[in-house]
Amino acid sequence: MSDLIQLVYVSTATRQLNEEDLTDLLTKTRESNQTKHITGMLLFDGASFMQVIEGDRDPIESLYVRIKSDPRHKNIVTIFEKPIEKRQFPDWSMGFKNLSGDMLRKIEGVNDFFADKTCLGDVEQSRALRILEYFSTEGFS
Ligand SMILES: Cc1cc2nc3c(=O)[nH]c(=O)nc-3n(C[C@H](O)[C@H](O)[C@H](O)COP(=O)(O)O)c2cc1C
Repeated sequence: MSDLIQLVYVSTATRQLNEEDLTDLLTKTRESNQTKHITGMLLFDGASFMQVIEGDRDPIESLYVRIKSDPRHKNIVTIFEKPIEKRQFPDWSMGFKNLSGDMLRKIEGVNDFFADKTCLGDVEQSRALRILEYFSTEGFS
């Protein structure tokens, strides 16, 4: 029987990440996730990450152990981990968005949050859910 879970966390980058760093991270991530049937999305606002990973429990939990020990980020806070019936990002081995202020303000319902100039690192559950909902319907183009 399948045991699908979805896990969301936020974290803070430990150093400035340029385009090349992000491309490198994403290329490896997508290759690895594809082989493990892991899907999801990664958002970066220049300082903080928010990531959703979804897949079978075992590969997700072992990936999360690796992610938590990655020196590229710190202050990793789990927002939630829950069983799901179907994936929210079935077509994305890791959808990615490098978020600009303008882009963020377009996301309905998180305007107040971003207007405060707080970052993804401070997001809590209800806002995380709204951000997920936005990208799962709009995609990443
Ligand atoms: C913000 C962030 C998100 C990451 N997401 C993934 C991911 O979804 N899948 C993955 O395989 N590695 C991801 N990584 C990379 C892992 O932390 C790790 O480097 C990679 O799995 C290789 O692990 P290993 O060196 O222990 O084999 C991510 C790293 C960071 C900093």
